Amino acid sequence: MLAARGKDNRLWQRLHLPYAWEELKQFFHNHKGDTMNSSLPCTSKGNPTVNSQSPFLNRVLFGDCISILRSMPAASVDFILTDPPYLVNFKTRDGRAAYPNDDNTHWLKPAFAEMFRVLKPDSYCVCFYGWMKAEFFLQAWKQVGFYPVSHLVWIKNYCSRREHTQWYHDTAYLLTKGNPPKPKQPTPDVFDWHYGGSRSHPAQRPVHTITPLIAAFSKPGDVVLDPFAGSGTTGLAAKEMRRNYILIEKVWRYSKLARDRLFQASPK
Ligand SMILES: C[S@@+](CC[C@H](N)C(=O)[O-])C[C@H]1O[C@@H](n2cnc3c(N)ncnc32)[C@H](O)[C@@H]1O
Repeated sequence: MLAARGKDNRLWQRLHLPYAWEELKQFFHNHKGDTMNSSLPCTSKGNPTVNSQSPFLNRVLFGDCISILRSMPAASVDFILTDPPYLVNFKTRDGRAAYPNDDNTHWLKPAFAEMFRVLKPDSYCVCFYGWMKAEFFLQAWKQVGFYPVSHLVWIKNYCSRREHTQWYHDTAYLLTKGNPPKPKQPTPDVFDWHYGGSRSHPAQRPVHTITPLIAAFSKPGDVVLDPFAGSGTTGLAAKEMRRNYILIEKVWRYSKLARDRLFQASPK
C-alpha cells in the first residue's frame, strides 16, 4: 500500500499537479483581505494606479516575478533592491535545489526588462549578483537600459566558504534608470556584514545589510520593490525605514515566511 502510494506520488509529481495546487494557493493568497497595508502616505505622485489602495502595496505576492511585474503599472516604484539567484546551482544540505532559477539564465533579461519598466525615470536599483556569473548580469542590465554607476561590497566578519581563497565578501551593483540627482552625502561603497544567526531561508541576509541602502536611495513613504524577495529581508528594512514595499516570491513557503516576518515587524 505504502509502495503504491509512493508510486502515486511520483506520478503526481510527473504530471506537475503540485503546480496547479500552487496556482490555486496563489489565487487565494493574492485575493485574501489585506492585513498588511500600512497607513504610510504613498509618494507616487501623478500615478493614480499606485496609491495606498494599490493591490500590490505592502504585500508579499506569491508567484513568478516576470508575470506579476507585467501586471504592474509602468514607472510606479521609487527604488528597487533585489537579491536574485546567483546562477550557481545552490543546493541545500540534502542535495535539493535551494530555490528556482539558480541553474539557468532564461529569466534574467525578461525580469530586468520588467523591473526597468516599473521603476520611475531617474531612479536607482541595487542588485546583488554572483561574481562568478557577472557577465550574464551585466549583459542583461545593459540590454534593458540599466546603467551601472557604483559597485558595492559587504565585508563579512566570518568566512562564508573556503575554496581557492577564504570568502569574506559579498557584492552588488548600483544601477540607474536615467539620471537621478547625485545624493548630497553619498554613502560609502563598503559596508559591514555581521553574522546574522539562524536563518529560515538558505540565502537570508541580515536586515542591517539592507537598511543603509534603503536610507540612501529612497525616502519615507516611497515604494521599494524586491521581485526576488526570499524571506522578505528587503521588506523588513523598508518597513523599518517607513517605506512602502512590494515583494514577489516564487516559492510558497518562502513567501509565507516573508509575510510572517513582516507581520511581526514594526516601523522604527
Ligand atoms: C537569493 S534568494 C533571496 C534571499 C533574500 N535576500 C532573503 O534575505 O531572504 C532569491 C529568491 O528568489 C526567488 N525566485 C527565483 N526566481 C524567481 C522568480 N522568477 N520570481 C520570483 N521569485 C523568484 C527564489 O525562490 C529565492 O527565494
